[in-house]
Amino acid sequence: MTAATESSTGPGEQAVDMRTSLASFQLPNPVLTASGCAAAGRELGQFFDVAELGGVVTKSIMLKPRSGRPTPRMAETPSGMLNSIGLQGPGIDSFIANDLAWLKQAGARSVVSIAGHNTEEFVNLAKRLYNHPIDLLEVNISCPNVESRGQVFACDPTASARVISAVRRAANPNVPIFAKLSPDVTDIGLIARSVADAGADGISLINTLLGLVIDLDTMRPALGGVTGGLSGPAIRPVAIRCVWQVHQAVPHLPLLGMGGIKTGADALQFILAGASAVSVGTAIFNDPHAPVRILAELQAELAARGFASVTEAVGFAHRAVAEQEEFFASRKLGVGA
Ligand SMILES: Cc1cc2nc3c(=O)[nH]c(=O)nc-3n(C[C@H](O)[C@H](O)[C@H](O)COP(=O)(O)O)c2cc1C
Repeated sequence: MTAATESSTGPGEQAVDMRTSLASFQLPNPVLTASGCAAAGRELGQFFDVAELGGVVTKSIMLKPRSGRPTPRMAETPSGMLNSIGLQGPGIDSFIANDLAWLKQAGARSVVSIAGHNTEEFVNLAKRLYNHPIDLLEVNISCPNVESRGQVFACDPTASARVISAVRRAANPNVPIFAKLSPDVTDIGLIARSVADAGADGISLINTLLGLVIDLDTMRPALGGVTGGLSGPAIRPVAIRCVWQVHQAVPHLPLLGMGGIKTGADALQFILAGASAVSVGTAIFNDPHAPVRILAELQAELAARGFASVTEAVGFAHRAVAEQEEFFASRKLGVGA
């Protein structure tokens, strides 16, 4: 076991096996960063060893360098924040040469997030990454489709499926692909089933919710981009509801859950709702150590409830009460522990 998989148990608590998997990607523990909240991991390297995490999810990368949306790009909201960064970034070539190379030499597991304006751009990104050492491809379909009057791919089951099946065909078959879903839909289970049928190996959820803040001094939208993405603890119940519904819709697919995770107890809610691993985003902005702290807290939360491994807890909240009781009764008798 590495340092990250050993349990920080207290007196009387059992060790917890923190290993998990996201399709064929084996992780020593279930805590990753969230796309866009830790660039490509280098900034976090000054606070802790990024190889201790389950993985680093990079900011969504596009084909060409982009400067993002107009300023101001951040507004405070109750228990959260609104951002309109846009997909600012160096473009795929620089990303591969600098960021991916850095992650590799740091010994981190790399989850690369890609974003495109149309299906062809997603395909080209998958092809560019084909021969590079990545552990998982997260396909950010929560961005506007220029071929459909700017409608977000993830809000349309057909457009979502088209991108995912094209990326699945173009990407290295040894690399699992996860579709990242938007919560801004009526039926997230429908979108989940359509990306599953299109060949997604798993699902990441949720991206930010679309929001707007009016600045009362200027009496105009506070963000230069007018609307922005709402993140942080304010969205957590929405995110857990989405994980719950998607787990029910596609129980065979692994889920990477996120949205407002600030503590190990928050992370545990996602796991019990059906996530095999979690990403930490906004919490990093006021506590750069948040991912490693949350990992230690999650281990303690699992141990305190008698779980011997994180995988035992995945989707546990969906089980019938009698089945849950039977699980813990067998544990007390030492069965399966
Ligand atoms: C500043 C900022 C930038 C983000 N950029 C991306 C991005 O490039 N790609 C993406 O898929 N999600 C992006 N997200 C969404 C996060 O990855 C995450 O899904 C969302 O913020 C919910 O998690 P949180 O509440 O822990 O931040 C961004 C979020 C924030 C706050």
